[in-house]
Order: sequence, then structure tokens, then C-alpha cells
Amino acid sequence: MRIDAVTIFPDYFSPLKLSLLGKAQESQLVSFGIHDLRSFATNVHNQVDDTPYGGGAGMVMMPEIWGAALDPLMTVDSDLIILTPAGKRFDQPMAQSLSNASHLVFACGRYEGIDDRVRQHYLSQGFRVHEVSIGDYVLGGGEVASLVMIEAITRLIPGVLGNPGSLAEESHNQEGYLEYPNYTKPQQWRGISVPEILLSGNHGEIAKWRDAQAKARGEKNL
Ligand code: ADE
Repeated sequence: MRIDAVTIFPDYFSPLKLSLLGKAQESQLVSFGIHDLRSFATNVHNQVDDTPYGGGAGMVMMPEIWGAALDPLMTVDSDLIILTPAGKRFDQPMAQSLSNASHLVFACGRYEGIDDRVRQHYLSQGFRVHEVSIGDYVLGGGEVASLVMIEAITRLIPGVLGNPGSLAEESHNQEGYLEYPNYTKPQQWRGISVPEILLSGNHGEIAKWRDAQAKARGEKNL
């Protein structure tokens, strides 16, 4: 998968070289391009935003600069993701569906967001455009939201996770419940024992116990 992100803060994306994502790049399962929106600015102050038509607080990111940054990235294989708190809520099914894409382009808005004509334009040109929110709260911009999405999406690409069994267990749980509590060594810690059933070697009973524990933790949005 190829992932491009356009941002005025490219440094936000430095964690991409860490951990699983770093390894995924080394093994060429994923490649990243991080693009500085400001390098497409045309005035002497490298301005990327302006006051909103109709008035109101804050600034809006200008469409020409976004167009100049996105045009060279978009192809028939691209899905454009515009991060905004007003977008569709990101969840596991969306991560699953986007993990099958071949090229994701993340447009990280700041301030009051990106002039809506950017979305309208790429939609009208036949591109797949998604406005996405990672939750009902307002961040300073789309960078952290992009990182959240990138991590959730790329770990679903075959080969990215060291142990593919982890994915199989998650998909087993995808019908509404998330994880049961987990334990490792030592068997006793600060007076608390690992539940007996987990030491029994009875896999059928262990699976039943885990299901019950997961249900007791409550329903999740998976
Ligand atoms: N930009 C600001 N807040 C956001 C959110 N919750 N999700 C995605 N992008 C955002």
C-alpha cells in the first residue's frame, strides 16, 4: 500500500518509522510520502489560509494550494481522506475496508478546515473522497487523526503483524465484543492470582470463559 499525507507539519509523521510501521516499510509492504503543504504556497508569506466568506472566527485553508498539492498525488487508484471532526466516524469496519485500498491520500486540515470546494472538486472528477472523523472531539488538526487511521489500517495488511493469529482472534471477536482480560507470568503478582481456568489446559472451557469475560466488559463498536 502507498500512503501519502499532506500537512503543514510534516514532523508530526516521524513516528511512522517506529515499531510495526517501520518494519512494514523495510519489508516494502507500505511506503509513505509526507508532503509539506506550505511548499505549494504562492505568496511571499507562504500563507495557506484566509478568512472565511460569510464571516466568523478562524481561518479556512485555501483551495488553490490544496489543489496544487493533491493534483500530482491523485490517480485512479487513490482514495482521498479529508480529516475533519464533521466527517464519518472512523471505526474497525472502515479500517478493514480501507486496508484493501492500494493508495490512500490523507489531507490534514488545520484551523477551521479546508475550503469545501477541494472535496467537491475531487468528487466531481470521479475520485473516491471520504471525510473522516476519529471521534466526537475537536483536535488541533488532522495529523494525529491520520496517524490513528494509518496505524489501525496498516496492521490489517497481510504480513504487517508479526503474528497473524492476533488478527484471526480479533475477527472472531468482531461481532460486537472486544477483548477478554489477559494474563502472563508470574502466576501470582501482589497477591493476585491468574484465574485457575487459564492454567487448566482445557481449551474449550478457556474459550467459553473468555467469551463470558469479553461480554462482561461490554459491547464495543467493532
Ligand atoms: N480534525 C480536528 N478534529 C478531528 C477529529 N476528531 N477527527 C479527524 N480530524 C480532525
